[in-house]
Amino acid sequence: MLFNLGKVVVTKEQIAAKVRELGAKITEDFKGKDLVVIGVLKGGFIFLADLVREIRLKFSIDFIAVSSYGSGMSSSGAVKILKDIDMVIEGKHVLLVEDLIDTGLTLNYLKALLATRKPADIKTCTILDKPAKRRANIMPDYKGIEIPDVFVVGYGLDYAGKCRNLPEVYSINTTLTQIKR
Ligand code: IMP
Ligand code: MG
Repeated sequence: MLFNLGKVVVTKEQIAAKVRELGAKITEDFKGKDLVVIGVLKGGFIFLADLVREIRLKFSIDFIAVSSYGSGMSSSGAVKILKDIDMVIEGKHVLLVEDLIDTGLTLNYLKALLATRKPADIKTCTILDKPAKRRANIMPDYKGIEIPDVFVVGYGLDYAGKCRNLPEVYSINTTLTQIKR
């Protein structure tokens, strides 16, 4: 699938500064608590890897994989669990780590699912926030960088499975996709 990268929406430097800030805040807030950090795959893997190295505590890490947009760009609202966490979270303090909150439906669903397992508490963290299209009544407890309502790739986020590796966050140009074909 052909598509062109648009402009840089968030730079490496902006991301690094925000990750340090969030890590420091989380370190303070979870001191003395039994913390489990849960990364939402696939998009969350790069942010999770950076964030956990800024959290100066002893804690566990687990992953949950959910279906997202497939190869399209709009939310279906349906969430499917492709891989569940391995750990028992009863009585633990959970921090759910996402790449981006758009409609909020994914995070809302995951929070409700994990809540049935009786953790002490569930907090959420996202590196990117697109509040314009929010449909679920949810605000991340640890909020990264707010971006406008444009489709973005990079820093874990993909378009048709590609571009997760880009160190910056880019918009993509889909009208050019049509012309180039
Ligand atoms: P939500 O359920 O609408 O909040 O969206 C959840 C997921 O959709 C995010 O965690 C991303 O994986 C994906 N997503 C939302 N917006 C974008 C985007 O602009 N680019 C790539 N993936 C996106
Ligand atoms: Mg995601």
